[in-house]
Amino acid sequence: MIGRREGPLMRNNSHSLQKSRVLVAIAIGVFVGCVCAFLFPSGFFGSNAIPRRNYNLVGSKIQANSAECESSDRVNMLKSEFVAVSEKNAQLKKQVRELTERLQQAKQGSDQAQKQFLALGKQPKAGPFGTVQGLRTNPTVVPDESVNPRLAKILEKVAVQREVIVALANANVKEMLEVWFTNIKRVGITNYLVVALDDETSKFCESNQVPVYKRDPDEGVDTIGRSGGNHAVSGLKFRILREFLQLGYSVLLSDVDIVYLQNPFDHLIRDSDIESMSDGHNNMTAYGFNDVFDEPAMGWARYAHTMRIWVYNSGFFYIRPTIPSIELLDRVATRLSREKAWDQAVFNEELFYPSHPGYIGLHASRRTMDIYLFMNSKVLFKTVRKDDNLKKLKPIIIHVNYHPDKLPRMKAIVEFYVNGKQDALQPFPDGSDW
Ligand SMILES: *[C@@H]1O[C@H](CO)[C@@H](O)[C@H](O)[C@H]1NC(C)=O
Repeated sequence: MIGRREGPLMRNNSHSLQKSRVLVAIAIGVFVGCVCAFLFPSGFFGSNAIPRRNYNLVGSKIQANSAECESSDRVNMLKSEFVAVSEKNAQLKKQVRELTERLQQAKQGSDQAQKQFLALGKQPKAGPFGTVQGLRTNPTVVPDESVNPRLAKILEKVAVQREVIVALANANVKEMLEVWFTNIKRVGITNYLVVALDDETSKFCESNQVPVYKRDPDEGVDTIGRSGGNHAVSGLKFRILREFLQLGYSVLLSDVDIVYLQNPFDHLIRDSDIESMSDGHNNMTAYGFNDVFDEPAMGWARYAHTMRIWVYNSGFFYIRPTIPSIELLDRVATRLSREKAWDQAVFNEELFYPSHPGYIGLHASRRTMDIYLFMNSKVLFKTVRKDDNLKKLKPIIIHVNYHPDKLPRMKAIVEFYVNGKQDALQPFPDGSDW
């Protein structure tokens, strides 16, 4: 009964291992015995053996001959048995080696996880049913001012509770930038900073008392910054953002085609590495849904369930200074430097794809912002402006991301929400007219 408690695999292994050891021992014993019998037919003990030989020389010779015949047969038999057994033994030894290696690997993995865990805190017991919660709020990194002392000084002055709104801008977006900071000032936000990508923008900010940071000259980065199109500049921001996080600040990254209507810092949840506004246009598309794929040819199994979610908008997200956040920035920046891709697509792929063969996924926690508070321009122009109830809501920000005529729509949004001009949004079509 006790034997049954062991796993069947273990029992078989140890049994056959024992059996083969016994067999090998017997075989070696017999073989050595035969060899000895052959070399020392009268035994090892010289003092006795030598006189006996002398007494009966002829007899001993006959005996030796027959023994030689018999033992050589047995030796051959044992030899082949020995070969077979030692082959088996070698196989088993290899198995043992492989299993030991696997055990070591498994131990290394668990050691790493254990170490990480110990770094985070006390090892918990699982609580009662319904009370357990995984980690989604990762610890922040220790600030490292040596990364950029000049920026550290600026942030010390500008940030509030180690949080800051950051926008990248060059002279191409000057008019939008003006609407952007005018509304930020109007709602009383002080912790914001423009990363100026050219001198003109830098001067423009200074003359408007807008906190500005002009980066140290960095060829390559700067040519993109000065003359780059929208997407090229978007790629830049992931590299620049890293320093802010290394300095220990949480950043609310903001494009400049955004109208601020309230202070977003009063409405963030702050429980995730990335808290982002969505490109979704209703609850389903923004927060995720089960999208059933129908393939009638499969008959009984025609319905395949898939997971879908509209992408996060990489033009407005709150990012906490944690290791997964910095890893995300690095991964996106690395990919954008290697491939021609849209930064928002890359940002989302890195954020959402799970680990799979040949790929290790990012393990960052994510939160989708409320689509009626952090609103995109599709929600506004397709739904909200036509709905009497939704029209009464006061959004926190509106991002004119879905429309190319950004500046007139931004101004109309200010007219509607700030100056109360009820028909300000009417002239615009839902989408762009091309
Ligand atoms: C969308 O989600 C919000 C928040 O969960 C909820 O209050 C609202 O009723 C939902 N709207 C629709 C149309 O389901």
